[in-house]
Amino acid sequence: MKSIPVVRAEAEMRELTGRWRRKGLTIGLVPTMGALHRGHLSLVELALRRARRVVVSVFVNPAQFGPGEDLDNYPRDLEGDTVLVAEAGGHAVFSPPPEEIYPPEHSTKVVVNNLTGTLCGAYRPGHFDGVTTVCSILFGIVGPDLAVFGRKDAQQLAVIRRMVRDLHMNVEIVQGDIVRENDGLAMSSRNAYLDPGERRDAALIHRAMLAAEEAVKGGERNAERIISMVSAIIESSPLARVQYVSLVDPHSLQPVPALNPTGLLAVAVYFGGTRLIDNTILTSGSQEED
Ligand code: PAJ
Repeated sequence: MKSIPVVRAEAEMRELTGRWRRKGLTIGLVPTMGALHRGHLSLVELALRRARRVVVSVFVNPAQFGPGEDLDNYPRDLEGDTVLVAEAGGHAVFSPPPEEIYPPEHSTKVVVNNLTGTLCGAYRPGHFDGVTTVCSILFGIVGPDLAVFGRKDAQQLAVIRRMVRDLHMNVEIVQGDIVRENDGLAMSSRNAYLDPGERRDAALIHRAMLAAEEAVKGGERNAERIISMVSAIIESSPLARVQYVSLVDPHSLQPVPALNPTGLLAVAVYFGGTRLIDNTILTSGSQEED
């Protein structure tokens, strides 16, 4: 198998991307925190369809973890990740040590307002500031023509899009669909934390969202009723602790009382100590109202 470089230093990354750029090759970046799974790799494939060279960053970003969150336990497997990126056709892995990204006098934060007060932002103060700050830094180092993010993290995607627009960054944001396990559970590096019982019941999250989609097809529009139904299905597992089930406007991420005509249904659920998120867009077809 073709081996690909694992770049640690910013200067080396700049040299590599500089060489590509001088040859006229476009560059795609897939930012990740590693422990790569098929969801991540689908983003690499998407990037490869749109850019001639693809860099996957693997950086467990301390700035986006709150106190008591899983920074220290976050799964790490750089060697395995590099093999997967190479097999998928990616051209380089960028995995800097934290001090390369945040040298001692690092003093700048990138903060997106408005979109970060609801959903996960309401429960993880400062989380999205960490995400936007690290993504700005990664964009600054790699200088990609495009960067690919998954819809799995719908709020993150919205926040990144807003940041790029507000700061006039010259990078196209491309979104990838959610990749799921056979039973519908959205792939996540954190699924590795689940014990067998939790893993089995975690499939209820997707099942609940499918039930919401069915209800909407049957004419349901009301947010409160949709939310109660989704919560009840997930909470049918004694192992589940719902943090939130929300129906929000897909653009503003503010709660809506009813579908009009679309809404982003987003959930965060704890199974034991593991926090899982998922989402789907609900659309009420107005043509059904005859
Ligand atoms: P991480 O959780 O590793 O996810 C990296 C990218 O993979 C994100 O864009 C995420 O939405 C996407 N992803 C995760 N699971 C997916 C799935 N099942 N299907 C499709 N895409 C999926 O998100 C982060 O890292 C970090 O916040 C980061 C953006 C790298 C900044 O540190």
